Formats: sequence, structure tokens, C-alpha cells
Amino acid sequence: MQTSRQPYFPKKWEKCINFQVMKLLEPVRLGPFELTNRVIMAPLTRCRANNPGRVPNDLMAEYYRQRAGAGLIISEGSVVSKQGIGHVHTPGLYSDEQREGWKKVTMAVHAEGGRIFAQLWHVGSISHPDYHDGGLPHAPSSVNPNLPVRTPDGRKPSVTPRAMTTKDIRQTITDFSAAAVRAMDAGFDGVEIHSSNGYLFHQFFSNSTNRRSDQYGGSIENRTRFYFEVLEALLTVLPSDRVGTRLNPMYHGRAAIMLNDESLSTFEYIVERLNEYKLAYLHLSRPFFPVESPWLIKNIPEHFRLLYHGHLMLNGEYDRESGEAALQAGLGDSICYGRPFIANPDLPERIMHNHPWEVADTRTYYNGGAEGYITYPSYKD
Ligand SMILES: Cc1cc2nc3c(=O)[nH]c(=O)nc-3n(C[C@H](O)[C@H](O)[C@H](O)COP(=O)(O)O)c2cc1C
Repeated sequence: MQTSRQPYFPKKWEKCINFQVMKLLEPVRLGPFELTNRVIMAPLTRCRANNPGRVPNDLMAEYYRQRAGAGLIISEGSVVSKQGIGHVHTPGLYSDEQREGWKKVTMAVHAEGGRIFAQLWHVGSISHPDYHDGGLPHAPSSVNPNLPVRTPDGRKPSVTPRAMTTKDIRQTITDFSAAAVRAMDAGFDGVEIHSSNGYLFHQFFSNSTNRRSDQYGGSIENRTRFYFEVLEALLTVLPSDRVGTRLNPMYHGRAAIMLNDESLSTFEYIVERLNEYKLAYLHLSRPFFPVESPWLIKNIPEHFRLLYHGHLMLNGEYDRESGEAALQAGLGDSICYGRPFIANPDLPERIMHNHPWEVADTRTYYNGGAEGYITYPSYKD
């Protein structure tokens, strides 16, 4: 017998009711787009462009098509130049063949009603001479990231990179804007600058990897100058609401990036200044590995939400409940899921129906072809 205090609906309706009240599944504005939900697919390097020209292929188109139910897909990191390469079989956006290959991907996503931004990538020091005809990787300063680097002949120790000249910096700015134009010509809805996770821009931000004494090193303004020059160059070829950017302010202990007394203020400066540009979004990551440092702040979304006034996308070890809770608390406007999207191509649907999530097989993250890439079933299969 139902008492008046019990909910007046049958048990089997609960899933539909979840669906109606979940913020994760509400539409949201991002730049000129009304995204159908707030479940964003994170950039995920999967190394399937296994051809000499690093050209995106049919397999990649199918992989992204399967995930087009995301409110927005952010593509895997795509290198803006040969100098930006540091990983096997990662696609690029520096050739016309790559542009044509990406068209297959964007068309597949759009045909399913999805949206996709291209992540523009330069690895900086996290590379190897094997990718540069024996030449050195480029970086702000000659600081070895001390990481094993994946090369076509297996993992090799990283080397001490060459400090970029002003001419290298100018060239890289040009490479980023050319890649952004190629991305738009390939049908992407926008681009994201990969300014996180220890790669080139992050190497400039941190004074543990940036030891320069010119206008690109020293003060916070100087260490962030190159990044803002790239951003401003992009804004000469793209509307600002088609550009997003990714930061991981508390990344520490890898690629020679160390948190210190200047880290937080550097990222506060960047985030506050980003407000001026009215970008499509700021993508904020929490470190996705354990970090121990006296300069670590744990409340990253809370801290930066107060500083950033545009669309804030949150990433880093969110699940269904914590993602929903972060949105309900107003900490972000969307939640970006990485590993969950590898094994759950239909993640928004699983969220809607409260269906369990599969766990991705790490062995196929960066290796192989279709297996562990397009073989994860949807929950209905
Ligand atoms: C296999 C794999 C590849 C990744 N590739 C990229 C990448 O290309 N660009 C990037 O910014 N982050 C990359 N990341 C980081 C993810 O975007 C994300 O920040 C991280 O997985 C934490 O989110 P999650 O806890 O939802 O997985 C990668 C992570 C994984 C596991």
C-alpha cells in the first residue's frame, strides 16, 4: 500500500526521472552552438593514424562517429608541424592530405548530429631526434624532460632539447594559425589549444622548464607571452567563439614541470586574462595521477570558477555522480570525460539510463587497429 510520503511513480520510471533532472543531460551554449548535453569527450591520443603522412583514416572516422552523442568531441591532439611530433602514429594538421583525412571524421560526426573541435598540439621537449632526422626537439630552454619517449623503435630516453630561437617561436605561431585554418577547412567546429599536460606551452609557463632571459622568460607576463601570441594569431583567422583552450594548473612531477611558489599565480594570471578574449570555453583539468607538493591546491574547479566568467569545462576523474554534483554546484558548465569515453562510446546514453560503465583496456590505448578502439559495444548491444 502506497503511503502519501512515498514517490507516486512506479519503480521502472526512475531512470526516466533521472534523465529529466540531470544537469549533465541538459543542453548548454558553447560559442555559437547549443550542445545537446554537457557530456564532453576529452582529447584522447589513440595512435591510429598509422601511415607515413599521419593522415586520419576510415577507422578513425568510425571511432569518432560512434562517440558523436557527446555534447562535443574534442579530437585527440593533432600536431601542427613535423617539429611538433613526439608520439607514434598521431595525426596532424600540417598537410593538405591530413585535412582531407580529417574531413572523413568531421563528416561522420556531423552526420550523427555531433560537434567536434580539433585539439592543436606541439609536444615541445617530449619528443626524440628519431622524429626530427636526428635533430633536437624544440623547447623554451635546454631542459631534459627525463621521460621515456615512444618512438617507432620502442621507448627511448628523452634528450636535452634545443632552446627555441625567436625565429622558431615566430614559425610555431605561424604553424598554429595554419593548422587552425586547415582544421576549419576540414569541417571542424572549432579548435582547442593544447596548453596543458607538460607540453610546449606548459613548458613555457613553468619556470622549472623555462629558464629564458629574453621576453619569453622570467616574469609571468614573459612566460605566458608566447601562448597569448599564438592565441591572438588564431583570433586573426578564427572567430573567438570557435577557440577553446586547455589548462592543467596543478600538473606536477612529469616532463620536468614542477609546482612551485609561482605556479598558482601564473595560472591565475592566464585564466583572468582569458576572460578578455570571449573564447568558446576554458577547459580545466585536474591532475589525473597522484601529485604531492606543498603548492598543490585541491579545489581547482572552485578556485578557477571564481576567476573565469565564460563556459568552464571540467575534466579529471569525474564519474556520473561527481560530474553531476559539480554541475549542480555551479562549478562548471560541462564535464569532460576521457577514459570513460574509450570504453563507453554511448556515454551520455549510459548516464541517462544509469547503466554501468565499462573500463577501458589500457593495452589498446595506443596500439593496434580496430581492437579496443571501435570494438566497445553500446549498452544496447
Ligand atoms: C589514452 C589517453 C590519451 C590521452 N590523450 C590526450 C591528448 O591527446 N590530449 C590531451 O590534452 N589529453 C590527453 N589525455 C588526457 C585526457 O584528455 C584526460 O585529461 C585524462 O584522461 C583525465 O580525464 P578522465 O579521468 O576523464 O580520463 C589522454 C589520456 C589518455 C588516458
